[in-house]
Amino acid sequence: MREVVDKIAIIDFGGQYTHLISRRVRELKVYCEIIRFDSISENLEALNSFRGIIFSGGPSSVYDENAPLVDERVYSLGLPILGICYGHQMIALQLGGEVVRGEVKEYGKTRLFIEDEDDIFDGVKRETIVWMSHGDMVLKLPRGFKGLARTENIGYAAFADQKRKIYGVQFHPEVVHTIEGRKILRNFLYKVCECRPSWRTTSYIDSALEEIRRKYSGGKVICAVSGGLDSTVTAFLVKKVVGENLFCVFVDNGLLRKGEAENVIRTLNEIGLNPLYVDASKQFLENLKNVVNPEEKRKVIGETFVKVFNDVAEKYGPFKYLAQGTLYPDVIESARAGGPASTIKTHHNVGGLPSNISYELIEPLRLLYKDEVRKMAKRLGLPESVVKRHPFPGPGLAARIIGEVTEEKLYICREASAIVEEELKRAGLYDRVWQAFAYVGDDRAVAVLGDTRYYGYIVTVKVVSSKDGMTADWVKIPYNVLERISTRITNEVKNVASVSYCISSKPPATIEPQ
Ligand code: XMP
Repeated sequence: MREVVDKIAIIDFGGQYTHLISRRVRELKVYCEIIRFDSISENLEALNSFRGIIFSGGPSSVYDENAPLVDERVYSLGLPILGICYGHQMIALQLGGEVVRGEVKEYGKTRLFIEDEDDIFDGVKRETIVWMSHGDMVLKLPRGFKGLARTENIGYAAFADQKRKIYGVQFHPEVVHTIEGRKILRNFLYKVCECRPSWRTTSYIDSALEEIRRKYSGGKVICAVSGGLDSTVTAFLVKKVVGENLFCVFVDNGLLRKGEAENVIRTLNEIGLNPLYVDASKQFLENLKNVVNPEEKRKVIGETFVKVFNDVAEKYGPFKYLAQGTLYPDVIESARAGGPASTIKTHHNVGGLPSNISYELIEPLRLLYKDEVRKMAKRLGLPESVVKRHPFPGPGLAARIIGEVTEEKLYICREASAIVEEELKRAGLYDRVWQAFAYVGDDRAVAVLGDTRYYGYIVTVKVVSSKDGMTADWVKIPYNVLERISTRITNEVKNVASVSYCISSKPPATIEPQ
């Protein structure tokens, strides 16, 4: 039988760091789920299956007209609670303390002086650095609470009612700038909530298989596979449960990397997924003619994909289920609806499907993060080419071609990217970076080859490091590796006049140029 894991509920008040809290908790091997603050009232009883609750931060002031406030019955459940930033202020306000608006603002690294080393500050230095980001502050504590720590500006940077196990911290223990943040979270999880570190790779696999078994009651399942980590793991797990009832399809949209279609099909055949190969590249490239706007490109690619996919489904169906590799951040982001991230690039449903489909969805990874899926893939024994594959966007090379997608730019992007990957592998750097590729636009420069002048494309090489794709830094690649990349691209790829290296981080840039 599956080991029962201890779990923590993270109540979300719209904070930008809510996912970070969740990731930190899971890194400490405790399972957690993010729950919207306004769904607590209907699910109050369900909270009893958790060992503790964390209130996230949020952009509001507790005094805002529509400030998100948790159902106060949550305090009577007898569960340990940790409020972070906005959560800290809300606890103070709801339990009878006083919060003052905007009197002292603290932002960034701040010195914290600990006055009580019990429980959550156990083992933390008496003076430590924490990350603050707040305008309001707690002025008076509710009855039964005492201060645990202060800063130079605020008296109650942390407080607790140790009898009821209710804690608040004004700072963000989940961000790396809070030097001992991990220790503080660990103390809350292990000491206060008495959680065991039971969330392990085998638990991820069990939880994913359980999700499939819960959903599946017989019939055919269709799954679009790209060779990427998420769809491969999804199909592999679904296959374990539904066997021959799984039908995998690989759509070649003509926007793939060099040799990608052949490599992916070979790998997927090796692990028994045997996808149907559909070459729809002509259709995609035809539909992309004259399209220059990045979002328009995504729309065209998404629509074309749906059309191709539906044709396949009709021909080989009927299918009752659709298996998809949706990850936890996507589930939460869509639940948050209209969050700021969704307006930058429409990642979701690109190369995926619209929400009004008639299949029942099987999404075994819907409670997992990318790094968890990667660990699972390793444990499941999937090939290195899947486990270590860099993320590749649904719109493929169209996200790396600025302006119209043409055969010529596709050729340049494909060949130059292959060189970038090869040289990074040769230098032992490929596995240490998040993504590495070349992109091309319409800008050209003059070059001289032998005695001939020509007007060729400018190719930009980009190599970034990142933990989750939300932020990214450009990688300081050694000059000799950059030099080899540049020389090879101008020598081996036709019609390239010069090579540049992108030194913009995200933010403000995004990882893909389109
Ligand atoms: P950006 O470019 O937004 O990318 O910084 C963050 C991560 O997402 C990938 N990406 C996409 N993935 N469809 C996808 O499936 C898309 O339209 C898309 N655009 C970007 C990108 O490769 C990076 O890992």
